[in-house]
Amino acid sequence: MASFTLLYDLIRWEEKAIVDAAKKKGVQANLVDARELTLEATGKSKGIPDHLVLERCVSHYRNIHATATLESLGHRVVNNFQSANISSDKLFGSLALARAGIPTPRTFVAFTEEAALKSLEELGYPAVIKPVVGSWGRLSALLKDSDFATAILEDREYMYPMYQVYYLQEFVKRPPRDIRSFVVGDQTVAAIYRLSASDWRTNTARGGKAEPCPITPELNELSLRSARAVEGEIVGVDLMESPDGLVVHEVNSTTEFKNTVPATGVDIPGLMVDYLVSLEKR
Ligand SMILES: Nc1ncnc2c1ncn2[C@@H]1O[C@H](COP(=O)(O)OP(=O)(O)O)[C@@H](O)[C@H]1O
Ligand SMILES: [Mg+2]
Repeated sequence: MASFTLLYDLIRWEEKAIVDAAKKKGVQANLVDARELTLEATGKSKGIPDHLVLERCVSHYRNIHATATLESLGHRVVNNFQSANISSDKLFGSLALARAGIPTPRTFVAFTEEAALKSLEELGYPAVIKPVVGSWGRLSALLKDSDFATAILEDREYMYPMYQVYYLQEFVKRPPRDIRSFVVGDQTVAAIYRLSASDWRTNTARGGKAEPCPITPELNELSLRSARAVEGEIVGVDLMESPDGLVVHEVNSTTEFKNTVPATGVDIPGLMVDYLVSLEKR
């Protein structure tokens, strides 16, 4: 019987759906709670019985450190460490997208308040500031002018050093929605629009509504190229409809899909399990 370990730290709708999908397909999904895991990082033997591991930790730091360790001990982890690491930091993600020639919003990085204000003059207002590590739109702000920017940057000076890596981005003139596509292996399997009337951030975690989005050839090509750019196998790609066509602003490694499955009718957890089984056979 095919089997894999599902490494988690919180059982969400997604983890339940993956376990159910595996059961239906006669595949053994072994749940391992990362909070209870003890790994001999410098050891020689594998950390858990299954070779194949699907990494699903909510905690970003837990995710990349568990992945690095399990890979080093000889496990095949999806997504792999290289991919999880790039995707875990918005700057690393932007660099990978730009290097691959994928259209992405114009982005600056600066390390002091003064340099950040200079970058913002180059970018023009309004502009967007985001923490390099974070999700669900948390602590991202729309900077309307330099007074507003100064206030936000001053606050950041008193925060954890990660918040003083100033990731500054042009505000993309798009409709009040963005696009989230899902790549599993070498296929774009589903896509949704995320609509928000009230917040400039359209994350479904902030109340953005999910609606099905057609997978056009442009969306398919950009999604696959973006996944490849970060070496991702199962990823969520965030895109915006700019006046000049689609731009990719983020690739996510441990994605949620509880809104996408009902909106599109696509069995994402089933496709994930199929992909994992296909790896076992390779
Ligand atoms: N440069 C931008 N211009 C306009 N809207 C943006 C821009 N960057 C992000 N957004 C909006 O904010 C949301 C969250 O940004 P994102 O970069 O995906 O970070 P998160 O990790 O929080 O999801 C996006 O889904 C999009 O709606
Ligand atoms: Mg996002």
